[in-house]
Amino acid sequence: MATLEELKRVVAQCRRCPLAENRTRVVFGEGNPQAKIMFIGEGPGYHEDQQGRPFVGRAGQLLDKMLAAIQLSRKDVYIANVVKCRPPNNRDPLPAEVEVCINYLRWQYKLIRPKILVCLGAVAARHIIAPDFSITRGRGQWVQKAGVWILPTYHPAALLRDPAKKKESWEDLQSLRARYNELAHE
Ligand code: URA
Repeated sequence: MATLEELKRVVAQCRRCPLAENRTRVVFGEGNPQAKIMFIGEGPGYHEDQQGRPFVGRAGQLLDKMLAAIQLSRKDVYIANVVKCRPPNNRDPLPAEVEVCINYLRWQYKLIRPKILVCLGAVAARHIIAPDFSITRGRGQWVQKAGVWILPTYHPAALLRDPAKKKESWEDLQSLRARYNELAHE
C-alpha cells in the first residue's frame, strides 16, 4: 500500500475478524497525513461506529479540548485506533482481534512516520509499549523505541469517569507540547 487512501480502501473491505459482522462502519482513522504526532486510541465506540470517524463521541470532544489546550487541532495530528471496528458493548478488543488488525495501524504508522506516538489508555500502551504496561504507573514517562518517541497517557474516557486524573493528564499534555516544540526544530 503506497498511500493512506489505498490502505483505507483495503481496510474498508476487511472481514478478517468477527468484529466485521456487527460493525456499521470501519473507523480507519483521520488527520494530517504529514502529522508529527499520532494519537492511538483503543477502538471505535457507538458514535464512531455510526459515523466512521475516530473520537467523535464524548471522549472525542474531550480529546479536542485537550488538543486545543496545547494549541493543536485535528488538522495538526493524526488519530487512529488499535482496532478499526467497534467491539460489542465497548468491551476491550480480544487478543485475536488485535493481532489481525494491528498490522493496519503499523501500515498507517509507516505511511505517516510521525515523530511522536501518544498512546491513549492502557489498551494502546499494552500493544505498543509492553504487554504488562500499567497506565497508572507508567503514564507520562516517555519511551523511545525504533526512532519514535512514545507517550502513554490516560484515555479521555478515563478522565470523564474520574476527573481527578485531569491534573496528571494536563502534565502529560504539557510534556507532549514541549517535546513537539523540540522536534519541530529538527
Ligand atoms: N475511544 C477510542 O478508543 N477510540 C475512539 O475512536 C473513540 C473512543
